[in-house]
Amino acid sequence: MRKLGDTDVFNKTVALRVDLNVPVKDGKVLDDTRILAIIPTLQYLKNQNSKTALISHFGRPEPGTDDEKFSLLPVAKRLEEIFDTKILLFQSLQDVNFNNDISLVENIRFMPGEVVNDTDLSSQLSKLADVYIFDAFGASHRSHASTFGAIKASQASCAGFLLEEETDALIKAMRSHEAPTLSIVGGSKVSSKLEAIKSLLHVSNEVLTGGGITNTFLKASGNNIGTSLCEDSMIEHAKDLLATSKILLPEEVVVSKSIQSGESRVCSIDAVQDDEMILDQVLSPEASEKIAIAKKIIWNGPVGVFEQKLFSKGTQELAQAIASSNAYSLAGGGETLLAIKMFIDKSNISYCSTGGGAFLEFVEGKELPSLSALGFKF
Ligand code: 3PG
Ligand code: MG
Repeated sequence: MRKLGDTDVFNKTVALRVDLNVPVKDGKVLDDTRILAIIPTLQYLKNQNSKTALISHFGRPEPGTDDEKFSLLPVAKRLEEIFDTKILLFQSLQDVNFNNDISLVENIRFMPGEVVNDTDLSSQLSKLADVYIFDAFGASHRSHASTFGAIKASQASCAGFLLEEETDALIKAMRSHEAPTLSIVGGSKVSSKLEAIKSLLHVSNEVLTGGGITNTFLKASGNNIGTSLCEDSMIEHAKDLLATSKILLPEEVVVSKSIQSGESRVCSIDAVQDDEMILDQVLSPEASEKIAIAKKIIWNGPVGVFEQKLFSKGTQELAQAIASSNAYSLAGGGETLLAIKMFIDKSNISYCSTGGGAFLEFVEGKELPSLSALGFKF
């Protein structure tokens, strides 16, 4: 893989693709792990007297439309606090200048052409600065213009320090084939995660599910899930995975009439009413036992709507169980990092990755487009 340490950046201008897709609420960054993770690269560039324009996506706006809701402004403000300097937020690539040490370009997904890996946009990005550095591990599974096309098109592209650290740590962790390995996959992106579960079954003895994924599995196994989030088109797929007998489902769940109702009850998975939705799950004795005896744990995604106290217990108990297990634990994903920050001491997790989907695809052994474009080989 082409590395920053081997690339001449002295006195140069740099376009640095990072993953600043961080959780934001009411204009405030809730977890800045992904921001802090790019400091080593930025510090090095500053020492090399380079001028840097940061490029990132934020959320999933309708491609090519600039919806204020997905502006990187809250992130720019947090960057200003962290680096104690003014950070200009350029609205378009045409506006970019390198008068300041660090600046930021508005959400790259506002630009038509980003998610379809348009050649013109890739070329523009690659020519924005002298060097194109890719340090967005969290987006390395996307073959978009800024995560693939620009790397290919650039005369001088390389991986940043975060990317190097992530790939080194994950390779080391994946090479140890310790059994039993338990994977935990939660979150709401059902269809993308079902694919992940399928692959993770090859490297794990069992997969414990949470969130919307669990609902789909519960429905596939004949349970009433009331008004819960579920992806019906995935039911048949879920049935196939259940047939492996390696999917660990909860015994009890936390249900409510609505997410805002302020009321909830715990019930067995076969006692959910038609007008109720599953918003959290109880860590079963079986799951606790599997976590305690695991040698390796791969964790991505919360098991409930943990941002709300009423539905946070499942994710909290899960985090605590992983923290007290002797297993080598790998965790990744924005929400997972936030849950770790909320409920446990981060030092009790062996390795925290800034990637969510990318982290999963890497541990599944899939080829990641950005990494391939940088010449990475397993
Ligand atoms: C993430 O949060 O997992 C990354 O930033 C990638 O985001 P995406 O799933 O919207 O491409
Ligand atoms: Mg994510």
